[in-house]
Amino acid sequence: MQSKYQPIKVLMVTAETRPFASVGGQGAVVFYLTKALRTLGIDARIFMPKFGFIDEKKYQLNCIYKNLKVPTGHGAENKQHLICNVKYFNEKSQPPVYFLENMEYYELRENVYGYSDDHIRWALLGRGVLEFIKKSSERKFKESFVPDITHCHDWHSGLVPDFLKTQYKDQKTLSTLMSIFTIHNLKFQGVTDYKNSSEVNLDDGRSPVSPFFSDRLKHLNFMKRGILFSDLVTTVSSTYSKEILTPEYGEGLDRLLAEVRSKIHGIVNGIDYEDFNPKTDKRLIANYDQENLEARVENKLALQKEFSLKKDSKIPILSYVGRLDDQKGIDLIVKVISLLLKDFDIQFIQVGGGSSHYTLKFQELKEMYPEKVGIHPFPNFDLPRLVFSGSDMILMPSKFEPCGLVQVEAMRYGSIPIVRATGGLADTVENFDPETGQGTGFVFKDYSKYSFFAQIVRALETYKYKKVWKKIIANAMKSDFSWKNSAQKYADLYNALLRSRNSEI
Ligand code: GLC
Repeated sequence: MQSKYQPIKVLMVTAETRPFASVGGQGAVVFYLTKALRTLGIDARIFMPKFGFIDEKKYQLNCIYKNLKVPTGHGAENKQHLICNVKYFNEKSQPPVYFLENMEYYELRENVYGYSDDHIRWALLGRGVLEFIKKSSERKFKESFVPDITHCHDWHSGLVPDFLKTQYKDQKTLSTLMSIFTIHNLKFQGVTDYKNSSEVNLDDGRSPVSPFFSDRLKHLNFMKRGILFSDLVTTVSSTYSKEILTPEYGEGLDRLLAEVRSKIHGIVNGIDYEDFNPKTDKRLIANYDQENLEARVENKLALQKEFSLKKDSKIPILSYVGRLDDQKGIDLIVKVISLLLKDFDIQFIQVGGGSSHYTLKFQELKEMYPEKVGIHPFPNFDLPRLVFSGSDMILMPSKFEPCGLVQVEAMRYGSIPIVRATGGLADTVENFDPETGQGTGFVFKDYSKYSFFAQIVRALETYKYKKVWKKIIANAMKSDFSWKNSAQKYADLYNALLRSRNSEI
């Protein structure tokens, strides 16, 4: 343990964090994890790009470093630079955030992801953060920061561990800087389709990082480099940390991951129990806790009204909240829900945007069953809470799921998850056992419509026994997936890492 007068200093490097930019689960995880680490006495801060849509009138950002020169190559090419500023956000109630500002690559872009020069944008983030740390170590300036550990998230920051072990290894401060790399989703590894790449374009992961403006940079596998060069790798659940060692889930990196398995740790994500609290959540029509579950009925009726469904509190509502992406098993939902709607008195609600292939399918269902189906095919920040508080069941038949947050959020609000036993879903939802009364949801193993269908029917039958259903809700609402435990596990890893560094020096 470091002395309590010198807290461990950690800098999260990420493409997104709440509340500034939050596209997927990662943005929530980085924010709440950093917050929880700070309550444990760790000086954790965040480093990310300053995108143009981040409102400087709403958030007070101070420019703390002007004209940070970020080299774009190495050796003789090192002379070409991109010029950035670093801005800082520091408000008591929130984790401090450093923003890397660059007009061309961040400021003028409306989105976080999805540009043809993304390889340059994320290489700039990776190198920009190291240049900022280097400057901080050379001379103290207001809000300068020299962390002990950089904690990098997904492929966008995958070059940080690589730079540290190669081009920056002789720089005094950076040579002792440790790195952790967290895999949120192994499927996304960089800008190239690595599975279908020709041999010449494959990245062995070990060649020097190409200069920013060379074509070769496009083919580098940032994810692979993050895994190879970091001191520790974590994934967002224990089951996923084992699954990725197999060809089925390894996305082409399973052999590499198996080789470095001794440095891989699985730590399940949490959710913020203050923010996600049905007792105080202002987005709900009626607040409740385990003692007055009857209040859920009001939310249910409001939900039915919101989606123009038949208003009847007895009809079970099954919902899907999340991205419309193949990963999430949407094809199974479409098949099974179409069958159920024919024969069962149920309602189905979908909230979240994504592939138009799926939005069209749900649109068709809405047209066929206007009083039974409700759709909101766009991302939404508030609506999910109402869905969790008024639905009876939440569907998550994912093909793979590194962690998944929706099932945990749903349980907190008393909506019962029906999930496939993969990744974080396997780690957070326990199959209901009618004999013992234990369990928080309904779980199936095979990725098949039959297995999924069987669990939904089992859930619908159980739903008829009000007392039993109440017990499942109580089990779900009682389960504890707050950040406290998981943040402590990260803190333990940081400590172990620094101990190993100190014993080497
Ligand atoms: C990704 C994963 C999801 C995980 C989230 C946060 O979006 O697909 O399973 O919960 O990252 O770690």
